[in-house]
Amino acid sequence: YRNLRVALLGGGSVGGQVARLLLEQGPELANRVGATLELVGIAVRDVNAERSVDLPRELFTTNAEELILGADIVIELMGGIEPARSYILLAISSGADVVTANKALLALHGSELFAAANHVGAQINYEAAVAGAIPIVRPLRESLAGDQIKRILGIVNGTTNFILDRMDTEGSSLEDALAEATALGYAEADPTADIGGFDAAQKAAILASLAFHTTVPLASVYREGITAVTAAQIESARKAGYVVKLLAICERVTDENGVDGVSARVYPAMVPRSHPLAAVHGANNAVFVEAESAGSLMFYGAGAGGVETASAVLGDVVSIARRHVAGGPGVAASSYAALPVFDIGRVTTRY
Ligand code: NAP
Ligand code: HSE
Repeated sequence: YRNLRVALLGGGSVGGQVARLLLEQGPELANRVGATLELVGIAVRDVNAERSVDLPRELFTTNAEELILGADIVIELMGGIEPARSYILLAISSGADVVTANKALLALHGSELFAAANHVGAQINYEAAVAGAIPIVRPLRESLAGDQIKRILGIVNGTTNFILDRMDTEGSSLEDALAEATALGYAEADPTADIGGFDAAQKAAILASLAFHTTVPLASVYREGITAVTAAQIESARKAGYVVKLLAICERVTDENGVDGVSARVYPAMVPRSHPLAAVHGANNAVFVEAESAGSLMFYGAGAGGVETASAVLGDVVSIARRHVAGGPGVAASSYAALPVFDIGRVTTRY
């Protein structure tokens, strides 16, 4: 097997799980890719910090640049704008491909990063930047690229959905529910990003840009968070047959002069309890896509959480690694393991 060197920037909620999975599933992933994925190091701020995942101490370093310069694939899971932006630019200029979950960075500096990557033929994959474990970036960028997207309605922030759900079903306060979401690893390092709607607005900018094949600047996304939502509002919504959800809405619109454009907005909305989005509980997310030819599609699953998000990150890593091996977008021939196929007949399936 060829060896691909993987540098991990960040060893927190998501990074710790990515590192664990890379180490535990190394041989299985090597089979799938046709190359070994060698985790060469994990850049963090404090190499001695207590970590929720038990990982070899010698992997940790504070020297991110050194890790990046020797890598084929750089996974950025530090979050924030700087130094994440500079590290990704360094990775691209030194010949590495990049995987990131950093929606804050992509929503603000995506154009700069993608231009830098295009210039040298590098790839940036970012499935985990929107809606955690749910595949939505690749479906919009690839599977639906031949269709006309009319509208996207999304619950794209797990923390606020968790909070609103707790307030609705258990009468929790916003503060208590946020503390719980933070302890479970759902919230951003600064949870104002979640409850203020900033995180959802960043994701709306990314979704709208992908869906409408344009650049939707973060500053053009209308944003309201959930801090003004009261228990009384949730109660009266319930009595009227609605549930309050923080929605990201991206759609094609025509202004009063007949000029076609797009709109992206985030705000707490009253969703009828009969709508599929009303049944999205806890930190789950859902993205409801309305397309001209495909009709309505719903993407649903875990919108936050370390291990769930790590799944999307590793999918991006495998996709890039396969290109390294195959020299193109195809699946490496060696990635098929010889597994036995059992004929177990017509057994009862539990739902
Ligand atoms: P986190 O738990 O706060 O972890 C951040 C990691 O980055 C920590 O290991 C930290 O080091 C390291 N780090 C931060 N700044 C650094 C710097 N300047 N130099 C070196 N290392 C630095 O964050 P997370 O929840 O894993 O999120 C990571 C990224 O994934 C973010 O962009 C976030 O928006 C995104 N994301 C998160 C989720 C989720 O459910 N958590 C889901 C989807 C996307 P120390 O450990 O030493 O402090
Ligand atoms: N803080 C984010 C959320 C993490 O709660 O949705 C996933 O992007």
